[in-house]
Amino acid sequence: MSRLEELKGRIESREAKIGVIGLGYVGLPLAVEFAKAGFSVVGFDLDGEKVRAVEAGTSYIEDVRSQDLAEQKKAGRLSATTDFAKLPIADVINICVPTPLTRTKDPDVSHMAKAIEDIARRLRSGQLVVLGSTTYPGTTSELLIPMLESSGLTIGTDFSVAFAPERIDPGNTKFGVHDVPKVVGGETPLCTELASQVYKTIFDQVVPVSSTACAEMVKLLENTFRAINIGLANEVALMCDRLDLDVWEVIEAAATKPYGFMKFLPGPGLGGHCIPVDPSYLSWKMKSLNFSARFIELAIDVNTSMPRHVTSKITELLNEDRLPVNGSRVLILGVAYKPDVGDVRESPAIDVIELLQQMGADISYHDPHVSEVQIEDRGYKSVDLSDDVLGSCDIAVIVTNHSAIDWERVVARAPRIFDTRNATAGVREGRERIRKL
Ligand SMILES: NC(=O)c1ccc[n+]([C@@H]2O[C@H](COP(=O)([O-])OP(=O)(O)OC[C@H]3O[C@@H](n4cnc5c(N)ncnc54)[C@H](O)[C@@H]3O)[C@@H](O)[C@H]2O)c1
Repeated sequence: MSRLEELKGRIESREAKIGVIGLGYVGLPLAVEFAKAGFSVVGFDLDGEKVRAVEAGTSYIEDVRSQDLAEQKKAGRLSATTDFAKLPIADVINICVPTPLTRTKDPDVSHMAKAIEDIARRLRSGQLVVLGSTTYPGTTSELLIPMLESSGLTIGTDFSVAFAPERIDPGNTKFGVHDVPKVVGGETPLCTELASQVYKTIFDQVVPVSSTACAEMVKLLENTFRAINIGLANEVALMCDRLDLDVWEVIEAAATKPYGFMKFLPGPGLGGHCIPVDPSYLSWKMKSLNFSARFIELAIDVNTSMPRHVTSKITELLNEDRLPVNGSRVLILGVAYKPDVGDVRESPAIDVIELLQQMGADISYHDPHVSEVQIEDRGYKSVDLSDDVLGSCDIAVIVTNHSAIDWERVVARAPRIFDTRNATAGVREGRERIRKL
């Protein structure tokens, strides 16, 4: 029996050791789930603070309870290290490192390349390597496999490779890790079989596809679909602004159609590590094939224009009362990129604050999930949402509709409110002070 065939038995008996490289929003929940399923899991990260937190049984990711993490740690099923020399311990290695964009909006594969290099230097026969980071179609076969084969070992006979995109939605209380089917594309049928077998231990459903590139494209289709539809909703918001219509009323009424319409909402712009970033991985790849991904480019154009639209509406609203933006006290409500999470990556609030900062506004913010934030060279700390803070601002701008914020009180106390999320839909008193996107 080959080492790869042997791995099947080790997965079945839970003797297989699982490695997770990158213990962030994706990697930490995955590591904890594998540990809960009875595997011994080692997490690898360059960030010593994260490693120390895992070792101390403390979670730094909102979706992972410290109690769960500590339980797995105590049971001896979970550990973390910065020492990549320990990689050969793992029979299965999941790569969950970031895939951001460079300043010129091209894919930044440096984190992936570093992780793959770390594996390649110590690759041993019998290992299964699964890439979970979102990336352009072709990454696994064009980048990962050649780097691993530089070790002298051969794909399919000595080691296995698959791509299995991560599809979690941080902060989503309805769909947890298990509930979202796992798409798996292996380099060979055995690679797909092994990766599917591993993931069946923690996911309710596994969806095998015919290749690594297909699995890579599945993930990009999902997120591009969202980016484009949010782009359409944002453009409809701009149209409704010119038509003097309430875009929220239009969308909610359209959404009563029981078929053929899917509700997407406008907002101050896209945020997070995925939706604003992933479509650019696809359009970059397509450019190399002389294909222009026009829908993607258009959606990027509309979505990135939204923070500027928000600031021009704020300017308009202040202007009605003869207030200049310069020197006005602007209270930003929510800086996280979406409700009920503390993640500010790519958050449109950052762009809105930057623009207002350039116009000389006196900015403060409140976010129950983000205690401080650095914007350009300025650091801000979340202020308490006291009656005094609300009453003394010139305008409160709702950028993130966190469920912990009492919108009735915001509207009752603030002199003007600009609501980019329709967070105040249920507020009855004081509606005349609200202006919506
Ligand atoms: N956050 C999400 O909601 C989400 C959802 C689906 C897919 N994804 C994708 O998953 C991947 C990871 O995203 P994330 O949000 O977990 O990122 P993250 O920034 O939260 O975590 C990544 C971790 O990897 C570590 N790291 C970076 N380079 C490393 C290296 N070479 N070796 C070891 N550790 C390294 C970082 O220190 C960090 O702890 C990305 O490709 C992202 O697009 C993210």
